[in-house]
Amino acid sequence: MAETDSADEIDQAVKRLQVGQLIGLPTETVYGLAADASNAEAVREIFRLKGRPADHPVIVHLASAAQLGDWADNSDPRITQLADAFWPGPLTLVLPKLAHVDEQLTGGQQTIAIRVPAHPVAQRVLRRFGGGVAAPSANRFGRISPTLAAHVRDEFGSDLFVVDGGDCQVGLESTILSLVAEPEILRPGAVTAAAIEQVIGEKVHLSNRLGQRASGLLDRHYSPTTPTAMVESSEINSVLQSPDYLGQKVGLLVMSACLIVVEQVLVLPQDPTGYGQQLYSGLRQLDQLKLDAIIIEQPPRNSGWLAVNDRLRRATA
Ligand code: TXA
Ligand code: MG
Repeated sequence: MAETDSADEIDQAVKRLQVGQLIGLPTETVYGLAADASNAEAVREIFRLKGRPADHPVIVHLASAAQLGDWADNSDPRITQLADAFWPGPLTLVLPKLAHVDEQLTGGQQTIAIRVPAHPVAQRVLRRFGGGVAAPSANRFGRISPTLAAHVRDEFGSDLFVVDGGDCQVGLESTILSLVAEPEILRPGAVTAAAIEQVIGEKVHLSNRLGQRASGLLDRHYSPTTPTAMVESSEINSVLQSPDYLGQKVGLLVMSACLIVVEQVLVLPQDPTGYGQQLYSGLRQLDQLKLDAIIIEQPPRNSGWLAVNDRLRRATA
């Protein structure tokens, strides 16, 4: 479906946010389940609908970095450098929260995650709304993030108003960078550590995940309901012929066309950007076929594939 060009849909979205209702909101990464971040009741409803544990914080979305001072301590000069370089875009910053900020948003922590999304529809809604919009990915807790309006309706039914923003351009969730202590990436995404290092002139650490409470960091996440396994390219054939898979209905998610006969083969692009853009819809497509198993070909392991491999590891944990 094409991206909405209807002012009416934007109007409706903004009105719903204003009265404390939830909406499905497109961003360039994935669709969000969005509500007014200043409305405690509405935020509570996000957690209820998603089935998300209360200690998993949500990201607050803003129209521009100019509003950051309403939510977080923005005295760190690196914030402006990063905002100039990457906002609007797929980067989330974790910063010390201001005292008035509802701890529901932060999972009881003293830090808050903020992002300025680039998607033109998200921008129009945020600018018209004016305030902060809390939006986790619009999927039930632990499931695959949605990259199409139809995915959001599949998750939550047609009662939820979803603004159709077309197919998400990035397709994987934003990079989460904490500036609370040493700069540290809590979740890899399209904005890489190298790109951030260039901007702030400092080493950026990759999280070892210890002591973190980012839900995208749980071992099992982004998961299809069909049993799913990662297999090296050279081993796909022999794995399919092993007793575990022989006679089973198997779907394959691979990076080059292959001659293996299985129930369904999906071929994804061979570059990490293209692959990341199509990964979640590919997984959803295979998951809907009610197969016995999904086998994913292990992509390259170099740093360009970090975000993709991170999601695949959790999808198959
Ligand atoms: O691309 C995205 O970031 C999408 C779109 C909708 O913006 N949103 C998204 O939200 O992925 P969610 O809730 O599915 O994932 C946000 C992640 C969670 O793992 C959450 O635990 C983490 O951000 N997070 C939020 N606030 C945090 C904080 N204060 N400290 C550490 N992690 C935090
Ligand atoms: Mg999520």
